[in-house]
Amino acid sequence: MDKLSAIVLAGGQGKRMKSNLPKVLHPVAGRPLVHYPIAAALAAGARRVVVVTSAETEAPILSHVRSAFAGHDVATAVQPVPRGTGDAARIGLSAAGDADRVLILIGDAPLVRPRDLAGLLRALDNPETNVALLSAKLDDPSGYGRVVRGADGRALSIKEDRDLAAGEKETLNEVNSGFYAARTGALERGLATLTTDNAQGELYLTDVVAFAARDRGAVAVVGDRDALTGVNDRAQLAHAEEALFERIADRHRVAGVTIRGRARIDDTVIIGEDARIEDGVHLRGSTRIARGVVVDAGAVVTDSEIGEAANVKPYSIVVEAHVGPRAQIGPFAHLRPGSIIEEDAHIGNFVETKKTRVGRGAKANHLSYLGDGDVGAGANIGAGTIFCNYDGFTKHTTTIGEGAFIGSDSQLVAPVTIGKGAYVATGTTVTKDVPEDALAIGRAKQETKLGYASRLKSRLAMSKKK
Ligand code: UD1
Ligand code: CA
Repeated sequence: MDKLSAIVLAGGQGKRMKSNLPKVLHPVAGRPLVHYPIAAALAAGARRVVVVTSAETEAPILSHVRSAFAGHDVATAVQPVPRGTGDAARIGLSAAGDADRVLILIGDAPLVRPRDLAGLLRALDNPETNVALLSAKLDDPSGYGRVVRGADGRALSIKEDRDLAAGEKETLNEVNSGFYAARTGALERGLATLTTDNAQGELYLTDVVAFAARDRGAVAVVGDRDALTGVNDRAQLAHAEEALFERIADRHRVAGVTIRGRARIDDTVIIGEDARIEDGVHLRGSTRIARGVVVDAGAVVTDSEIGEAANVKPYSIVVEAHVGPRAQIGPFAHLRPGSIIEEDAHIGNFVETKKTRVGRGAKANHLSYLGDGDVGAGANIGAGTIFCNYDGFTKHTTTIGEGAFIGSDSQLVAPVTIGKGAYVATGTTVTKDVPEDALAIGRAKQETKLGYASRLKSRLAMSKKK
């Protein structure tokens, strides 16, 4: 039976990243770098994927694949010492099961696509081909292994950048992507022949190509140059991520989302049809955007849910929050974790919410802090209202009944409850509960002295002259 397994090489240290975080765990468009080749291998038809990890990265990679690829056969195999890609492939192969064909992918090239791998697998349809590798021609091939072809154009071997002779650096511009398809038996035989006789003293997987070429069984398939964008340092990481963001945006566009300009949307985000995402927006993590939503310029939405036809206006920040259908948020609003803004509610500019429910149709349109609160449907929170939720030790709750009116510049000192339909007059500091339908007013009485303004002004002018 024809069975395909895949090995993803992710056991290296990634020294060129200069980071405490292992290279393959660096986030790219909301997922660890190593996620992408695993996903491509599964999409290309691999029944089992073995990720070769270091001892250090096994646990985090395992926990990622368990959640991201639940229901798929994705396992890890530890490479105790990074002795090279050939050593890693050997360790991976021993856990790859009884496949008769194997895909090998490097773990640090996130732009590889299933169709690139399909091209390699097609090359194996020729019964004489034992190993197929994906290559591309680059104007600047520096850093990559180079494909060496014979006079008849057949691939003969791969020479690593560091092992090239002076003249070869410029002339050899066809580079090795690090993606291969091989027949299992030939791969096993090839791996058994590897030595550390090279500039890095490592076991090079690439030498398997020369082994297969000796019996004319190797081919290099020239593919798309995108696929081989390998990430070795943080500059390459940034370029790969930008390319991925562009690809993700196009995926949503084709699925019916308008995205204008440059939006950065994590691979994990879900967006409904007819949503509109404007320039400079960031959608991150487990965010879900329903149909017809507008996320306007510069907004940043993280791990949040935005309901149908809601409008997140420019420069709003939304984190771990829930926004109901048709709600209006911002501009310049800050919804912090635990904010639940129900349908048709309005949160206006310079309003911050945290762990607060704002009921259906309620409004807080200007300059407010609503923390640890519960605002009933249809309530109106005036400009400058503060829920004084923190006494320096404990957080307390503010509860506002349906249809209540909180006048501007009021402070509600929690714990406190404002009853249904109650009215808090502007400028009141509320320290005691206000019953349903009551009026609370707590401010100094105003005194007005007729004709006193000009007298006061001349007195002040005199005292300044002295
Ligand atoms: C490798 C290829 C090179 C190719 C390039 C494409 C070899 C010898 N060279 O070079 O021909 O042009 O990729 O990007 O294969 N890894 C392990 N264990 C190890 C060493 C590496 O699992 O002991 C993993 C790394 O985690 C990484 C991948 O293999 O994901 C590639 O390793 P890296 O050191 O980046 O290889 P390159 O020098 O880029
Ligand atoms: Ca690399």
